[in-house]
Amino acid sequence: MKFVRELKRTEYCGNITSEHIGKKVVLMGWVNTRRDHGSLIFIDLRDREGLVQVVFDPNKADTSTSKELRNEYVVALEGIVRARPDGMKNAKLKSGEVEVEGVRCEILNQAATPPFQIDDENVNEVLRLKYRYLDLRSPRLQKNIITRHRVAQLVRKFLSDNGFLEVETPILYKSTPEGARDYLVPSRVNPGTFYALPQSPQILKQLLMVSGYDRYFQIARCFRDEDLRADRQPEFSQIDIEMSFIDVEDIIEINEKMLRMIWKEIKGQDVPPIKRITFQEAMDKYGSDKPDTRFEMHIQDLTSAVAGTDFKVFNDALSRGGVVRGLCVPGGSAFTRGQFDKLTEVAKKNGGKGLIWMKPEADGTIASPISKFFTPEKLKEIFAKLGCTSKDCGLIVADDFDPACSALSALRLQLGRELKLIDHSKYNFLWVIDFPLLEYSPNDKRWVARHHPFTSPKDESFDDLMNNNEKAYGKILAKAYDLVCNGYEMGGGSIRIYRNEIQQAMFRLLGMSEEETKNKFGFFLDALKYGTPPHGGIAWGMDRLVMLLMETDAIREVIAFPKTAKASDLMSDAPSEVNRDQLVEVGVRLTAQAEKAIEDAKANQSK
Ligand code: AMO
Ligand code: AMP
Repeated sequence: MKFVRELKRTEYCGNITSEHIGKKVVLMGWVNTRRDHGSLIFIDLRDREGLVQVVFDPNKADTSTSKELRNEYVVALEGIVRARPDGMKNAKLKSGEVEVEGVRCEILNQAATPPFQIDDENVNEVLRLKYRYLDLRSPRLQKNIITRHRVAQLVRKFLSDNGFLEVETPILYKSTPEGARDYLVPSRVNPGTFYALPQSPQILKQLLMVSGYDRYFQIARCFRDEDLRADRQPEFSQIDIEMSFIDVEDIIEINEKMLRMIWKEIKGQDVPPIKRITFQEAMDKYGSDKPDTRFEMHIQDLTSAVAGTDFKVFNDALSRGGVVRGLCVPGGSAFTRGQFDKLTEVAKKNGGKGLIWMKPEADGTIASPISKFFTPEKLKEIFAKLGCTSKDCGLIVADDFDPACSALSALRLQLGRELKLIDHSKYNFLWVIDFPLLEYSPNDKRWVARHHPFTSPKDESFDDLMNNNEKAYGKILAKAYDLVCNGYEMGGGSIRIYRNEIQQAMFRLLGMSEEETKNKFGFFLDALKYGTPPHGGIAWGMDRLVMLLMETDAIREVIAFPKTAKASDLMSDAPSEVNRDQLVEVGVRLTAQAEKAIEDAKANQSK
């Protein structure tokens, strides 16, 4: 280690450019590749900023060490920066105009042969997750992790400059209702009791408003035990914000300002004015409350065109209060039966009961599995009502509102992708507003909060809430808003209930007994009595924000140590079995089912 002791690094490899020509540099990094051309030895040296090419010439330097180098060896070297000969420049590298003429090289540590070449993009994800520390050396992940850091710094500076205080809230706490299952932690000191990891700091940030801190933010870790998807992790980070003495407009204004700042700093782009759309309009047009508005393909309502016909599927849906809606697929007239079958599967997988297709024939008639139920003229009318021309095909779903929206939204997105209707260079930001406060859960046979139970209804609906006017519940609108981009919910929040009696009415309406309310939220209801200012806030999905900035569809790509869809870490094998003594200590005993699962897993492993 003589070298490291004597010489200090002067530059990061990836930052060396023609500005450094003629300079002596000391570099420390990993060998990306070594090419021995006999007369010359080329080493691509890598660090977190990128690569630089180093050349050792046996006529000018001692090459005995450089000959020993293998991939991923850690080395320190000294050299002189020079321009690459003409024709040898590499436009793909930031350092591609130059190379370093190696003078001296020392191996700081050897490396076992890595299980994959770091910059190989075709390695399967299981292997990459198992060796995450190696994958993190790749330019791809380096870029993501470094951008994530920059976003965090920008957000902290912006919010701090705007009077927000960064306050940390506990991780070991009590359940916060955000609609997912809690992760529980048993308490050793208080046997039989459990902490819940926060699904969000919702109650605590509201309490900070009660305490008068006025403007709060935190880059907060949240934990939710829910089904994972490409854009969901069991633990994730929120840019969590709360403000007092404000209304919806104030929140939208400051968050748009922050959004513009981030896009300008990271992407160099100006964000155009952000449209607002109501929840109802979003569902009617796109079938989703987080619509991808980069392409049109709006949903069309066919109720008036099909009302009064005697086709059972349509009549049943309409008489139940459901809808008959469809899409026009541009250029879809050439779709085959096989393609329609696949689309039917998509509709079914997303809650639809089926899918009816329509397509024009050469003779001008409309072919459809339902053609025998309608006159040719009626079919043409329905086809035209969808907005279809002779080049298109139509897709129709008849169902209750929610499953119809969900099936049509899934079809729209899939076709948008397949037919390349999406302009991937675009960011379409959108505020979705006027969400319903409540939705009825047929499973639980009760009303549930759409956002969370602390969200305020619009002022005109307080009476309905206080007077238990159940007939009105489905129509009450919330002071809630989501920030949506390209089909992702990037953030969401609301103005809160700040009066004790309304919060109590809300818990009652959600079917909570007085006892349950007291146990779960007694402390919070108490706090609301002691001078609570009107307040509201929002939380951005920090991971999703970085995903969008980095143009990736996978949340795992923007988190240093992510988990798989089964919420496990392939590198450390978390979650894992614990020592039985530890369980006794925290007062936990495994069920027979859990014991069997452990045995099965062991048997599987030894196979
Ligand atoms: P909400 O539950 O909408 O609101 O969450 C806010 C934002 O967090 C992100 N998000 C997630 N990101 C990754 N993985 C997940 N599992 C995940 N779940 C949510 C989304 C989402 O928009 N306390 C309220 C906010 C408030 O009312 O102020 C809350 O947590 O981008
Ligand atoms: P069936 O009469 O059940 O054989 O259905 C006739 C056609 O209607 C098939 O193509 C089904 O996929 C479709 N279908 C059935 N139910 C629905 C529905 N609720 N919405 C749309 N299409 C449906």
